[in-house]
Amino acid sequence: MITTLWRHARLATLQPGTPWGWEEDGALLVQGDTLRWVGPDAALPPDLQPDQEIDLQGALVTPGLIDAHTHLVYGGQRAAEFERRLQGASYEEIAQAGGGILNTVAATRAASDDELFRAAAARARTLMAEGVTTVEIKSGYGLSQAHEARCLAVARRLGRELALTVRTTSLAAHALPPEYAGRADDYIDAACSWLAGQQAAGLVDAVDAFCDHIGFSPAQTDRIFRAARALGLPVKLHAEQLSDQGGAALAARHDALSCDHLEHLSPAGIAAMRASGTVAMLLPGAYYFLRETKLPPVQALRDAAVPIAIASDHNPGSCPGGSLLLMLSMACTLFRLTPEEALRGVTVNAARALGLPDRGRLAERLRADFAVWDAEHPRELAYRFGLNPCRRVVCGGVERAP
Ligand code: NIG
Ligand code: FE
Repeated sequence: MITTLWRHARLATLQPGTPWGWEEDGALLVQGDTLRWVGPDAALPPDLQPDQEIDLQGALVTPGLIDAHTHLVYGGQRAAEFERRLQGASYEEIAQAGGGILNTVAATRAASDDELFRAAAARARTLMAEGVTTVEIKSGYGLSQAHEARCLAVARRLGRELALTVRTTSLAAHALPPEYAGRADDYIDAACSWLAGQQAAGLVDAVDAFCDHIGFSPAQTDRIFRAARALGLPVKLHAEQLSDQGGAALAARHDALSCDHLEHLSPAGIAAMRASGTVAMLLPGAYYFLRETKLPPVQALRDAAVPIAIASDHNPGSCPGGSLLLMLSMACTLFRLTPEEALRGVTVNAARALGLPDRGRLAERLRADFAVWDAEHPRELAYRFGLNPCRRVVCGGVERAP
């Protein structure tokens, strides 16, 4: 196995205990796809004989970024709805009139597998250019057994064909498809019955739902979560985005990996998430694009020591953006996270939200996923926006074009 020694880096390891897990003049030894040694350059073991040595001349190195909540696979776009919202229509009104998610469902069903793949690959490459090495991708725009499976298969193909880890999430409980209008409980029965097949086909790593007054009720969400847990699949939830449904506490009762959005999260929801170790996944891009005004309870989450993650939530309706770095900026300016909290939110806490303990920090035995930046200090990643300082990316020990 090839060994590569990366020397003279400013390392933000994000190991616990010190701010940023900082190492002013650090080194990384990579063997195959694994980090074999991480520490101060001056403390390198003297007997190392790497196959190659790379001098980073003081460049900043962080773990590869993890975008742990996206909806990358879909057809069409919703710019006309954006215009309608600018003229005063609300996101909920558009959804209730049959637009919104169902607009994208129609376009997704009409697109071929290759069209879906090409469009999603372009979006994934945009994220990758900013140092993203792991991405979670949800279904939720197919809403039939065949179309949901197709969207999950496209996500899996992205993981095979791009130098990127893809985790897939089944989100059939995203909206009620037209053929089930007025029969939401029947649709949930159907969606529950699809999970075993998705799992047998290797298409699904977790199960999500949209619990809100324009999505599904807590009772319906509970049913899909029971079906997921019976198969051993972990769950996560679009919770408390537009209203407080008690979704976070419900998800926590099912040991959810994460609850996502959370603008309307209650103290009871926070207590339940704390007890279950569920990650709070904040999505500042959707907050911005929908012009929300109710902030997620960041200080209460901190006080309860609930881990906070940040993600792009890329999707055509509430966040059609392609930049995880911009989410760091927004997490700080809109949600008042510190730059270190924001970076931990797209690395170590994002890894936790995906149930992937092998990444998100720079430490021995973890996966060799890291990004090299044209920056002196990691706070700069949250400070600039609209500029991409990513210079090199190593994913699974292999350097790829960023
Ligand atoms: O994360 N809230 C539900 N799902 C997406 C938006 C879906 C859409 O509008 O297409 C979200 O915001
Ligand atoms: Fe989402």
